Amino acid sequence: MCVRQSLLGLPYLVPPKGGHFKGAPAPPPASPQPRPLPKVSAPSPASREHLSRGKPEAAFYRNTELSNLYLTKSSPKSQYHCLMYYSKTIYFCWHYLTDAVRDGKNQYDRPFGISSEDLYGALYRSEEEMIKFMYFLNDFWKMYGRDVIGAFDLSPFTVIYDLGGCAGGLAQECISLYPNSTVTIYDLPKVVQVAKERFVPPEERRITFHEGDFFKDPIPEADLYILARILHDWADDKCMHLLTKIHKACKPGGGVLLVETLLNEDKTGSVDAQLFNLIMLVQTEGRVRTPAEYSKLFTAAGFREIQVKKTGKLYDAILGRK
Ligand SMILES: C[S@@+](CC[C@H](N)C(=O)[O-])C[C@H]1O[C@@H](n2cnc3c(N)ncnc32)[C@H](O)[C@@H]1O
Repeated sequence: MCVRQSLLGLPYLVPPKGGHFKGAPAPPPASPQPRPLPKVSAPSPASREHLSRGKPEAAFYRNTELSNLYLTKSSPKSQYHCLMYYSKTIYFCWHYLTDAVRDGKNQYDRPFGISSEDLYGALYRSEEEMIKFMYFLNDFWKMYGRDVIGAFDLSPFTVIYDLGGCAGGLAQECISLYPNSTVTIYDLPKVVQVAKERFVPPEERRITFHEGDFFKDPIPEADLYILARILHDWADDKCMHLLTKIHKACKPGGGVLLVETLLNEDKTGSVDAQLFNLIMLVQTEGRVRTPAEYSKLFTAAGFREIQVKKTGKLYDAILGRK
């Protein structure tokens, strides 16, 4: 048995010849035929003996169960696009972490040579980059969508707008959990176009689209507005501007559902939240906040009855009512 490096940079194990790991479930019978590798790294004493006799021993490889679940593109839980975006885009921003800490702002122009004055102009610097970002974000909802959409009983809200709803992963979770709901994905025109073409099947009548800029254009009336991973992109003044607009548009008795990774009140953790906070620093204009910081923004915008639900997973939820 030996350890090899996969294309994604993750190590995986090559099982013993003809067998599988002790204690591991037997490999599925219909998995693709193992292919012989041209050469074996770190040959065992037995194979060294073979080699010395001029008979190279064939090595075989296959995905582990975990790789099949999370790394293959076709798996319903695939995290392939997520890992690719981390390694091909976010990783390059981390090269300038020291400068970002010193300046207190992202250094997006340094790895990519493009000004981040218009944040989403920079993130969507080409259609290809935008599509990668959309796949990246959608991968998370395969894992955590149900936890955040089910964190509160949203069944009283039937007309829902997912502001900055992107590729629609969360909208899909919402209509599947709440059979009386319809969700409108409100996003920038070019995002909406791609969401329609690639992500949301046309026969899905309960998901509709609205092209617009939520900072500049009107926000239509609804029972509930979802803000998933939106406010963490922006500084407090922009968050206030958006929340105030939402409060004006919201039906009386309606609400806003915030979905974010939350920092502990004393900011000591979680590690995930702190890590995301650094990602926000190197890539956006925003930051990860505590429940109290979000509650303060909600209250200042006019929302009341603010409830916080920690899911125990990567993303948490806050519900505020008008
Ligand atoms: C970090 S992503 C979150 C996407 C989605 N809510 C999710 O959690 O997967 C932010 C989203 O806001 C959208 N967005 C950014 N600025 C916007 C604006 N001014 N008006 C409308 N949508 C905007 C982006 O296109 C993107 O889809």
